Amino acid sequence: MAETTDNAKTVTITVDATGEKVTLPVLEGTIGPDVVDIRKFYGQTDMFTFDPGYGATGSCLSGLTYIDGDQGVLLHRGYPIEELANKADFLEVAYLLLEGELPDADQKAQFDEAITLHTMVHDQLSNFYRGFRRDAHPMAIMCGVVGAMSAFYHDSTDIHDPVQRMIASRRLIAKIPTLAAMAFKYSLGQPFNYPRNNLSYAENFLHMCFAVPAADYEVDPIVAKAMDKIFILHADHEQNASTSTVRLAGSSGANPFACIAAGIASLWGPAHGGANEAVLNMLNEIGHKDNIAEYVERARDRDDPFRLFGFGHRVYKNFDPRAKVLRETCHDVLNALGVEDPLLELAMELEDMALKDQYFIDKKLYPNVDFYSGIILKAMGFPTSMFTVLFAVARTVGWVAQWNEMITDPMHRIGRPRQLYTGPAERPYVEIGNR
Ligand code: SDX
Repeated sequence: MAETTDNAKTVTITVDATGEKVTLPVLEGTIGPDVVDIRKFYGQTDMFTFDPGYGATGSCLSGLTYIDGDQGVLLHRGYPIEELANKADFLEVAYLLLEGELPDADQKAQFDEAITLHTMVHDQLSNFYRGFRRDAHPMAIMCGVVGAMSAFYHDSTDIHDPVQRMIASRRLIAKIPTLAAMAFKYSLGQPFNYPRNNLSYAENFLHMCFAVPAADYEVDPIVAKAMDKIFILHADHEQNASTSTVRLAGSSGANPFACIAAGIASLWGPAHGGANEAVLNMLNEIGHKDNIAEYVERARDRDDPFRLFGFGHRVYKNFDPRAKVLRETCHDVLNALGVEDPLLELAMELEDMALKDQYFIDKKLYPNVDFYSGIILKAMGFPTSMFTVLFAVARTVGWVAQWNEMITDPMHRIGRPRQLYTGPAERPYVEIGNR
């Protein structure tokens, strides 16, 4: 845990207007940049700090995930994402994020069973779906039904009870795939499938999404393995927008189901988790490799709001290591399924052209996790409207782990940023007849 030591590092800031010097402690983590602890800055200078977008501001101490954006490194509790994606399964990574260590065989078996036995949802929850139009976006449905979980699982909403926190955490991880599959089935006008305890997490999700009562359904092991790997790659990612949303909601004492619903709402944005859906829509709009140059030109043009979805990242100024794994998975899945998707060829051409474009080189814009995920998900049979839902299924593990870490952090307090006020100075009310 970060701490200030006797020979603690400090920074001293001179307030030029007064010549006053302010000395602030520097906190050191395990790896990565140190942080300046500015909690006493306002009290000593009567000034706030300013960092819209929080590009240079740490909001918390965390031991879950570490990203080195320049080196393209992503670690979960110290383990590289490439190793976890290729050697672990999703529930093993979920256990690692929640508990801090990889499970041994008994711990893994117990955790798998605990999640499996919580995959069914209260039957009344299915009534919520019938209130939506069939063409409702599945993310809109997820915002609603996940928030509604707090109306059904009252016995696990006391955030100060570690047992209730554990039950709520496992219920969320176990039930989110069921709710997501129900949203997909509802959009298709097909009946819901119940979870099956003899299937793995990824197999169960695919079965609930693609099985129909009229026929037997065998989960393709290649697709199940790819689904599990995609879940691992999307599990957690430091203090991204949706995770920060979950933490901020949780800092007020809101129940875990409401916090995760808030995270789902934030993830939906096309600049964040909604990018995988936006990538497919963009590739369809580009249509042919002969049009790529025009779109790259538009992406370069600061007066044109168009951006190349699937490129760029607040932290990665090198290849997103998840994109590298997904790029390989993409080829494996399409080859295994015998899918010839012209969009993949188009994506490869676009990647190739963008990585050679000086603007993208100068701005250090590389493909991110969303660039390839949509192509794989499309090959698996998911419509673009389900892509961000799948991201939310995976990221629920990270949100829940980050929420638990925050609740148990003795430093945590309600999040309440300040501002620089730029509105009018105080002025007297004017009667309407005199305006
Ligand atoms: C995710 O935070 C996370 O960890 C998120 C995530 C996770 O796992 O939780 O990794 C998941 O959200 C991945 C990102 C998916 N989003 C997209 O693919 C949408 C397209 N990307 C951009 O919207 C953008 O790159 C962001 C939002 C991802 C990052 O934006 P920043 O950090 O605010 O960077 P910026 O917008 O300031 O960009 C820096 C410069 C700008 O040019 P200047 O104003 O300096 O001239 O790069 C340009 C931008 O115009 N730029 C792009 C671009 N992304 C940034 N130009 C063209 N195409 C792009 N995609």
